[in-house]
Amino acid sequence: MGTQLKPGIAQPALILAALCLCLLPARSASTDTPEPSKYIGPGSCAATSCHGSVKPVAGSRIYQNEYSTWILEDKHSRAYGVLTGEVGERMARILKLESKAGDAPKCLACHALYSAPEQRGRQFEMGDGVSCENCHGPASAWLGPHTTRDWPHEKSVALGMHDTRNVIHRTEKCLECHLGTKNKFVDHEMIAAGHPDLFFELDSFSAVMPRHWKVPRESAPGKPAEDAAWAGVRDWGTGQAVQLRGEMERLVWRARNERFDKKDVWPEYSELSCFACHHSLGPAKDSWRQAHGYEGRRPGDPAWNSSRYAVFRLLAKQIDSGNGQELDKRMLTVSNEMSKLNPDRAAVANAASAAVPLAQQIAERLAAMQYDQAVTLRMMQRITDDAENIAIADERAAEQAAMAIDSLYIAYARDTKPANDAEVRGAINVLFQQLENPSSYNADQFAVALRRIRPMLH
Ligand code: HEC
Ligand code: HEC
Ligand code: HEC
Ligand code: HEC
Repeated sequence: MGTQLKPGIAQPALILAALCLCLLPARSASTDTPEPSKYIGPGSCAATSCHGSVKPVAGSRIYQNEYSTWILEDKHSRAYGVLTGEVGERMARILKLESKAGDAPKCLACHALYSAPEQRGRQFEMGDGVSCENCHGPASAWLGPHTTRDWPHEKSVALGMHDTRNVIHRTEKCLECHLGTKNKFVDHEMIAAGHPDLFFELDSFSAVMPRHWKVPRESAPGKPAEDAAWAGVRDWGTGQAVQLRGEMERLVWRARNERFDKKDVWPEYSELSCFACHHSLGPAKDSWRQAHGYEGRRPGDPAWNSSRYAVFRLLAKQIDSGNGQELDKRMLTVSNEMSKLNPDRAAVANAASAAVPLAQQIAERLAAMQYDQAVTLRMMQRITDDAENIAIADERAAEQAAMAIDSLYIAYARDTKPANDAEVRGAINVLFQQLENPSSYNADQFAVALRRIRPMLH
């Protein structure tokens, strides 16, 4: 067991390692053929000297209270519980699942560490919900070594840890559950049975989780520290690009009927604008939809849900105009085709798959570029300048704009608080108020509220 402990290691690290190792399942020495990595459960990380401290530990590179944060504040620790609760059980009945939701692979896939039985270690518990190893990868191979002093992150990654430090990989990890894959998904059938619709934005969702990691990360020797404020802007932008890529990949497998059970419905309603079908009707003269016409589609055909693109396209063009314009062409095809009653599968698949590498290139640029106050200001200005287009796109697009302005403004105002800070924050709150009742969302009112922020930004 002790092969990874180098002689002469400093005392505190030794104690730490010893305390954590007692929870480890037996594992062969590194010279033997490695066993397949196993999931060993969050209990293995919970020792007070590892990640289970009640408070952040002073002077430590990491907080060391990650477990406490997860179990007390993070909804992921209760993700299994919602399946066995009233809503989960009701959903299972409506969907006529063969078992209760708490036993159904269809639900466990995202609400627990649902892994192959041979990958489950002794301490594994389905009831732990979405736990450390859902995001950080199976730990049996790296749990021991990663407690040793100066053990590099890269070596853990080589042993099966997910590289969540890389913001692109991090977003991909979140999106496995917050957008879905061909093996696990939330479709309109599930939504109609009571599941919340899925939407995502990396920076806001990380804040809500809440984050159990330091921003900025302490710099590695010889490398500059991450800049705290601009890390949020980078996360927002990169997250947007990865999200669009993920959505295009999802459209491709849906269009090609590659879902694991080959039972795809086409068009799948959850790809469309929810409130095209689900809004309240009033007198014709009061309808903003009728007033704006139905650009790019026949009146009455439900539009594609463009929320993952309506805001991001502005950013894409700002930082990479070549790829941004190319992407725009593909997305116009996707949007026009998906906004027909019976979209052509091949046309959608072709345009969406052509958009994937473009979104990836933009993601890479966004992950690597330098941010500052001027860039952030321009991003906010572009969004407010485009208020009308975003607003009529969809309620969900408006929601992305509100989250974007909120994230960007927090970063923008972090170090030098603008004199009109209270006024701007009040105006951002108004955006969120406009979204409180999505079925009675009004595009014209939202556009006014978003545009109102423009002159406040300088
Ligand atoms: C693709 C991943 C995925 C699958 C599959 C999935 N869920 Fe979810 N579920 C989520 C996510 C993500 C959320 C949180 C959504 C949010 O708040 O943005 C959630 C939220 C919920 C909630 C609301 C929880 C709350 O705190 O209000 C319930 C209930 C639920 N899911 C039940 C189910 C059931 C039952 C199934 C199986 C029929 C299922 N889920 C399958 C990802 C999934
Ligand atoms: C929903 C996903 C998720 C869950 C669940 C989760 N983490 Fe994390 N964790 C992250 C992300 C994302 C980061 C930040 C990215 C990074 O810097 O690696 C992070 C960062 C960390 C860090 C800091 C790493 C560093 O080098 O700064 C530690 C330590 C950590 N997590 C431990 C845990 C433990 C222990 C648990 C379970 C009790 C847990 N995490 C559960 C996603 C998750
Ligand atoms: C294995 C699937 C899975 C992964 C990976 C995952 N989540 Fe979740 N997430 C869920 C489920 C399921 C819920 C719903 C839990 C509940 O409501 O009890 C949820 C809920 C949340 C919530 C609470 C939403 C709300 O409405 O309050 C936030 C925030 C969140 N996730 C952020 C993230 C972030 C950020 C990442 C990536 C670092 C991530 N998640 C990765 C499955 C996942
Ligand atoms: C093309 C039209 C269409 C689109 C787009 C659509 N739905 Fe539906 N939805 C329906 C129909 C039809 C029903 C069944 C209503 C009934 O039987 O009363 C339904 C049912 C529902 C229900 C259950 C009914 C209720 O009153 O509680 C919910 C919730 C729901 N949809 C949410 C959504 C969400 C969220 C989206 C977007 C992700 C969406 N729908 C997209 C047509 C649509």
